[in-house]
Amino acid sequence: MCESADSLEYSNLTEDNVEEVVAFMAQHFYPREPVSTGLHMTYEDNKEWIHGSVREWVRSGVSVVARDPTNGHLAGTILATILTRDQSNTYQQALMSPKTKVKTLHTVLSVLEAAVDFFARYKQVDRILELAMLTVPEKYGGRGIGRKLVQESERRGVALGCQLATAQATAVPSQRLLQRLGYEVLYTLDYTTFQIAGDRVFDMDRMLGTPSAKVMARLLADDNNKLQENQL
Ligand SMILES: CC(C)(COP(=O)(O)OP(=O)(O)OC[C@H]1O[C@@H](n2cnc3c(N)ncnc32)[C@H](O)[C@@H]1OP(=O)(O)O)[C@@H](O)C(=O)NCCC(=O)NCCS
Repeated sequence: MCESADSLEYSNLTEDNVEEVVAFMAQHFYPREPVSTGLHMTYEDNKEWIHGSVREWVRSGVSVVARDPTNGHLAGTILATILTRDQSNTYQQALMSPKTKVKTLHTVLSVLEAAVDFFARYKQVDRILELAMLTVPEKYGGRGIGRKLVQESERRGVALGCQLATAQATAVPSQRLLQRLGYEVLYTLDYTTFQIAGDRVFDMDRMLGTPSAKVMARLLADDNNKLQENQL
């Protein structure tokens, strides 16, 4: 097995990878991501929604897979999209789901997505890279693969005209790696007190040590072209 993040092969997520990536996330994302575990949410609960969404994340051109060249296995994925002023949310559709858990999950994600109005905050920004789901299996963890996947997605985002990157970071390791890449925390959602229609939704015994979700962002513009908040 590869020893370092740099010895993996990074490539764009393609249509051909969709089933493989969904199976990978069923195994390595849902059982280990705090919002999913805290809502007792499994891959099965998300089945109808996830295949279509992964296809959309293929089309964005900013989703990346990491492969271990020694065995061909997936060693990490980042699913991301590009938001524009005309299309500034991605989770609304699943709010119509008949499944309560799916609706609850997407309510949480929609609250996070709407918590900061980036297009109002940064007047010059018209394309935003939104990092949605980051997954690295436990056996590959802690050697910078998550970090490298974020950087690979950022590189593609910049090439496609994105000036800002955002993430709804729901777990301590992702919050930590984004912070170290220069992302700032702009909003914090406390899992303990969060309620929908007066009810607390998270099982705090299953949040895997993460107390809150954080909306984080980083300007991607280079120093010569530095963007300022509210710049016209
Ligand atoms: C989040 C995840 C992608 C990180 O992948 P990774 O390849 O291990 O990430 P990296 O090695 O680049 O960096 C992880 C950072 O978090 C730290 N970290 C790892 N596990 C941690 C833990 N349980 N508590 C605190 N910090 C932790 C690492 O030490 C590292 O920080 P450092 O660079 O300061 O040492 C991976 O843990 C994962 O797939 N988790 C399950 C799904 C999930 O929660 N995704 C994120 C949702 S937004």
